[in-house]
Formats: sequence, C-alpha cells, structure tokens
Amino acid sequence: MNILLFIFLFFTTFSSSTYIRRQALSPCVGTFPNEITTYTFTPNPIIIGQTATIHITGKATVPIENGALFNITLFHENQVFHQHSFEFCQMFVIPNGSTCPINGDYDFTINFPAESSTDDPVNTTVESDIRTQIINPDGNILSCIEGKITFHYP
Ligand SMILES: *[C@@H]1O[C@H](CO)[C@@H](O)[C@H](O)[C@H]1NC(C)=O
Ligand SMILES: *[C@@H]1O[C@H](CO)[C@@H](O)[C@H](O)[C@H]1NC(C)=O
Ligand SMILES: *[C@@H]1O[C@H](CO)[C@@H](O)[C@H](O)[C@H]1NC(C)=O
Repeated sequence: MNILLFIFLFFTTFSSSTYIRRQALSPCVGTFPNEITTYTFTPNPIIIGQTATIHITGKATVPIENGALFNITLFHENQVFHQHSFEFCQMFVIPNGSTCPINGDYDFTINFPAESSTDDPVNTTVESDIRTQIINPDGNILSCIEGKITFHYP
C-alpha cells in the first residue's frame, strides 16, 4: 500500500471514530437513580426548519411523576446559549399513548419541529454540547445525560 494512502486512511479512520465517540451521549458526573439507555436525535445533524425525532429509552427506578420536567441546556464553548424546559409527560408519554407516572422500562419516540429563527446562520453546521435532565416535581434529578449534538442550518 502506498504509504501516503495508508496515512490518509489511518487519519480518516481515526478521526471518524473520534467523531462517533464524541457524538455519544454519556451520564453526567454525579449519581442519578434512573439510567437513560438510549437517547438519539435523527436526522444527524438535525436540520433546522424540519421535523426531527427523539428516541429515548431508560429505566424509571424512581417513578417519573406527572409534572416532571425535561430540561435541555445547550452550550457552545462552555457558554450556555439555550435552555428549554418541557413537561416530560406532555412531551413524550401522552403522544406515545401512555400516561404518567412511568415505572420501570420505558421507550418513547416523538417527532418535534426543529424551529428556525430569524437570526439563525445560513448554510452552516454547528456542533454544540447538550445536557438533558429529567426532574421530578419534588426537585429530585432522576436522570442526567450529556454529549454532542449537531445542527445544520440550511
Ligand atoms: C429546569 O428548568 C426550569 C425552567 O427553566 C427551572 O426552573 C429549573 O430550575 C430547572 N431545573 C434544573 C435542575 O436545572
Ligand atoms: C411508544 O411508541 C413507540 C412507537 O410507536 C412504541 O414502539 C413504544 O412501545 C411506545 N412506548 C410506550 C411506553 O408506549
Ligand atoms: C453551502 O456551503 C458549502 C460549503 O461551505 C458550499 O460548498 C455551498 O456552495 C454552499 N451552498 C449555498 C447554497 O450557499
């Protein structure tokens, strides 16, 4: 094999596997009772102005109560640039044909509009850090997961 081709393949393989690892979401530092086992966004990157899908699976060791929050925080270079709080049961459970409280294993898939705004960049892909927490009405943080998310602005 041509040595330059080898080096090229080595670096592309290496950097794409780094990229995949960086896409993976992992538990936040700390102790949280409810493990999240799957948390994916499709398409990847999410295309702003189109519908995106979230798939979340996990185990509610502590029941997720009616009124629990699903808080999303987006960071860019360690600066918070977007925070949003949703009601977990309204967002995932009811559209999925189920009701809160959630006990034990759960598996929810929902579609949501990735809304655009007038000050969005154009024809740019942006990678951000995302942290997601599920918080019961009593303030108990049940789950926390963080990682990278990529948006494409058409
Ligand atoms: C979740 O978001 C709500 C609404 O912004 C906020 O009041 C609450 O403090 C957040 N909870 C945590 C644990 O960050
Ligand atoms: C949620 O909906 C998905 C897809 O329709 C289904 O596979 C899953 O079992 C549902 N989960 C619950 C807890 O209803
Ligand atoms: C979008 O950006 C890419 C790469 O930066 C460029 O090649 C392409 O021509 C751009 N498309 C439009 C419609 O501006």
